[in-house]
Amino acid sequence: MKRRIQDMNVKGKKVLLRCDFNVPVKDGVIIDDSKIVASLNTIDYLIKEGAKIIILSHFGKVKTEEDKVNNSLAPIAAHLQKLVNTKVIFSKQPRSLYLEAKIENMNPGEIVVLENTRFEDVPNKLESNNDPQLSMYWAGLADIYCLDAFGSSHRKHASTYGVAKYIPSCIGFLVQHEIEMLDEYVLNAKHPFTIVMGGAKVEDKVELIESLLPRCDNLLITGGIANSCLHTLGFNVGGSLKTNNPEVLSRIKNILINYKDKIMLPVDAIIGRVYNENFIEHVNIDKIEEDDIIYDVGMKTINKYNEILKNSKTIFVNGTAGKYEDKRYATGTRELLTNIVNSNAIKIVGGGDGVSAVKHFKLEDKFSFLSTGGGATLEYIINKGLPAIDNIADFE
Ligand code: 3PG
Repeated sequence: MKRRIQDMNVKGKKVLLRCDFNVPVKDGVIIDDSKIVASLNTIDYLIKEGAKIIILSHFGKVKTEEDKVNNSLAPIAAHLQKLVNTKVIFSKQPRSLYLEAKIENMNPGEIVVLENTRFEDVPNKLESNNDPQLSMYWAGLADIYCLDAFGSSHRKHASTYGVAKYIPSCIGFLVQHEIEMLDEYVLNAKHPFTIVMGGAKVEDKVELIESLLPRCDNLLITGGIANSCLHTLGFNVGGSLKTNNPEVLSRIKNILINYKDKIMLPVDAIIGRVYNENFIEHVNIDKIEEDDIIYDVGMKTINKYNEILKNSKTIFVNGTAGKYEDKRYATGTRELLTNIVNSNAIKIVGGGDGVSAVKHFKLEDKFSFLSTGGGATLEYIINKGLPAIDNIADFE
């Protein structure tokens, strides 16, 4: 078992807390602060215990000097200030003398948020390459390292991984909760265990599908992943999104042969046309033509899948059935999610897109668990662990 924040004496200590504040922002406005809110359990605990809290997080992709302009953590730190009952100081650099002085003068219970850890990726990728000097610098700011960034725990970066080598380490409440929920609901799922898998790119999901199939009873496939499966089986999917990667196609073929009794594919679809934005039609899956593009599953598919959902004890959702952001193609995703919440099963959503869709249709309160991770959640399910979590000291 990993050492937990509650196993440490944090009173008056400087705690380097790695959060995942990589939240969606549009035109400078945070559109979903769930990951920040989910971090408050640990932050509030540390405030109450009188620790000095030094927060690290990445935000977006920072590859050039220009990328820094739109990827500052300043708005996130300002938002955090509204959520906590203590002073939040923002350091405009992830490394500076100003930062060191601020930390020296902090009062117990106060917070310093460092600028985006990925600013250290320009020009030498120090953060992403887990540079030892950078890890040592951040570790040198604190007495204890606490990993609470579940969504970043698949990254072996200086701020998620390297720092733990130099000071005593532990996991925060968010990471503990994710592990508990995913272990109980997904890794030790109650059967019949049904997976509803969608999303655009099969390349990103083929490993997850291979890993989950031996453990589940049903795999209901939708979205771009379904198109690639149908194409492998010889159906014409027209101009729909699908993979042409021969290695991926061969893996899909094996999956479809070896697990044919567990897998269900769409029997109808809502289509558009390559050269006509306004065209929309409902067709059976064997009637797709060259210029057609599949944007959503049809009602026959939804009803067929619902027969399985009704009798499931655990349902894990990953990805969406169609282009749900466009109202014309939202029915499949909405109806499938509604049928899932109406079932008596334990319901879990993992992975960024599925969670966004659940929130889009305001169904978040009806799910047993919404994971805060995207890629990290999928990797946790495949490998039953994540590098940054495995790297934390064990409880003795
Ligand atoms: C996420 O949003 O999934 C995490 O913050 C990880 O982000 P990354 O893929 O940019 O490392």
